[in-house]
Amino acid sequence: MKKVILDCDPGHDDAIAIMLACASPELEVLGITTVAGNQTGKKTFANARQVLTLIGSDLPVARGFDKPLLRELITAPEIHGETGLDGVELPAPLDKPCAARAVNFIVEALLSAEEPVYLIPTGPLTNIAGALLLAPEIKEKIKKIVLMGGGVLVSNKTPAAEFNIYVDPEAAKIVFESGIPITMVGLDATNKALFSFEDIETLSQLGGKVSAVAAQLLAFYARRLKRFFDVKGAHLHDPLAVAAVIDPAVLDTKFLQVDIETKGEFTRGATVVDLYGVTGKEANAEVAFGLDLSKFKSLVFNAIKSLDERS
Ligand code: RIB
Ligand code: CA
Repeated sequence: MKKVILDCDPGHDDAIAIMLACASPELEVLGITTVAGNQTGKKTFANARQVLTLIGSDLPVARGFDKPLLRELITAPEIHGETGLDGVELPAPLDKPCAARAVNFIVEALLSAEEPVYLIPTGPLTNIAGALLLAPEIKEKIKKIVLMGGGVLVSNKTPAAEFNIYVDPEAAKIVFESGIPITMVGLDATNKALFSFEDIETLSQLGGKVSAVAAQLLAFYARRLKRFFDVKGAHLHDPLAVAAVIDPAVLDTKFLQVDIETKGEFTRGATVVDLYGVTGKEANAEVAFGLDLSKFKSLVFNAIKSLDERS
């Protein structure tokens, strides 16, 4: 089994990513850390704990930064609502909150792990950068950072940038310049990780507790994506990063050099990908361009079905 830590900002697609990670027999989830992004740090922390309560997991959830390293927090209520998981009633969390904060949890979990651990960030990279700043020695205990973020020819928050990188570009720069193996699961691939309205209906017909909530979450999320981007379904951005750890063959990637723009007036948070090697700089990330959609959908459906059987 691959040991993983999921760092997320639930967020509707993050919630499905949590379900996929926790249900996967290939993964041993050491814990969940949360970060401000789609909603405030308080709300994403509560949301992660409520999703785990729904699926009957007692995994520790450690709360992370409430704002980016340098900039003011920008959230996404227009997509994820005021709670960050609008569209569904979730059970109150049963567990008591994890005493450790996210950066300390990540550092301690990595330093005590017998083998290197996969980090799967699906929100702004503030916690990951914070852990690297606090304890650079954790680098040799990180197998790979498989992050949802960025885009080569696609953006969503601005004409130049994807939301997770845009919110904390300085944190992203620290991560991409760390020398740690990275897979960048960006919008070029995740916009193709689309659950159609029919897929959502299929989910709602499964008849289980978890599948019913997942369907409600995706139905809300799809309505917002339709309103703002005229999308016909729900982009499962974050679950694709988890799927890429479960089965790397689900992604089509190229090993390329990626820089993060932190100074541009119009280009803040852009992932500047050297497609043709013109910079002469060393490649630093496997960049995703596409996916095996059928394999991905099977992973997600099977994960949610197994959570229904467990609950
Ligand atoms: O741009 C998509 C990303 O931003 C996803 O991780 C979504 O949850 C939001 O955090
Ligand atoms: Ca997210």
